[in-house]
Amino acid sequence: MGYASIFGMIATFPATPIAIESDSESKSERVKPLIVLGIETSCDETGVALYDSEHGLLADCLYSQIELHAQYGGVIPELASRDHIRKTLPLIMEVISAAGIEQSDIGGVAYTAGPGLVGALLVGASIGRSLGMGWDVPTIGVHHMEGHLLAPMLEGEPPAFPFVALLVSGGHTQLVEVKGIGRYVLLGESLDDAAGEAFDKVGKMLGLPYPGGPHVAKLAVEGESGKFIFPRPMTNRPGLDFSFSGLKTAVRTAIAKASDANGDLTELQRADIARGFEEAVVATLAIKCGRALQHTGMHTLIIAGGVSANLQLREVLEKTVAKFDAKLFYAKHRFCTDNGAMIAYAGCQRLLAGQKDDLEIRAQPRWSLESLPAL
Ligand code: KG4
Ligand code: ZN
Repeated sequence: MGYASIFGMIATFPATPIAIESDSESKSERVKPLIVLGIETSCDETGVALYDSEHGLLADCLYSQIELHAQYGGVIPELASRDHIRKTLPLIMEVISAAGIEQSDIGGVAYTAGPGLVGALLVGASIGRSLGMGWDVPTIGVHHMEGHLLAPMLEGEPPAFPFVALLVSGGHTQLVEVKGIGRYVLLGESLDDAAGEAFDKVGKMLGLPYPGGPHVAKLAVEGESGKFIFPRPMTNRPGLDFSFSGLKTAVRTAIAKASDANGDLTELQRADIARGFEEAVVATLAIKCGRALQHTGMHTLIIAGGVSANLQLREVLEKTVAKFDAKLFYAKHRFCTDNGAMIAYAGCQRLLAGQKDDLEIRAQPRWSLESLPAL
């Protein structure tokens, strides 16, 4: 299938009916199955997926731009936008074929409308909105962090509302009280660097490739606990906010002190520093999660976003939740980092509830989670 044929499909295929039916039917009868195409292009991953409200996730495809940006040590927004343009439509064709469905089976389109890099967002938004219009199906702009927050719902045993969510990605570190979809109260957030950003910056200091998070985690396994003890920022005062920029400075100072006359560290020193840094981040997050459970009286904690892939974090949080008679939930590895499945899922829930956008192309680089409408 080429570009001409996908745009041909836009023009040719009839509208797929929306899910909501007359009020006279009971709620369980009212909702018809809905297949939603999800498109994620907020940063450096092009993610596309098809979620079926009846059968769950049908297919998901991901193209990571990591190699493209690695040579620069971070994401170059202009290159990210251009690569999303190259990859999004081929991935959409791939995901339709992988799901074994027809384009006409798709009843809605969801794209990431923010937060994120504006140029990158605009690619997914333009494509998503155009496909929705051409196919004559309802379309919705999804909040990227709501996508992350709901990603554990894609698992076999999803968490039930209400719960506390720890959102830890490259751009955000937030603790959120979640009573339902769109019913979010921000309990605390990072006043400076996000946890993932701190991992990436420390990775850079240790000479590791971009993005640093997974590399720091891998190196930390070789290190010895207790060789480097870094501060647990903002844990000695009340509240649920975070700050990781001082921790990053503490690591920089430790590296400078431990380095030899040429400014080099031994392999073991690098691993010990990675271990000490990871332990400090994980301990800080765990202390705040415990406090959030205590504060809300909730018994479910979910973790989402790229840093929730961190095994040390999962292990320590298992112990934290046990203390509060609570349960921990997270998504499988590939749905912790950016992906299209979480956007398809979140969009599907909102479309099923009758929410949809008008004809505008929405790209909101800054967008508060708390401003979202409740279902
Ligand atoms: O959610 P995500 O894919 O993108 C954003 O929305 O930002 O998160 C990416 C972040 C990066 O900072 C990356 O280094 C971090 O998640 N990350 C990790 C791990 N895997 C990804 N950090 C620590 N340990 C990991 N295993
Ligand atoms: Zn993300």
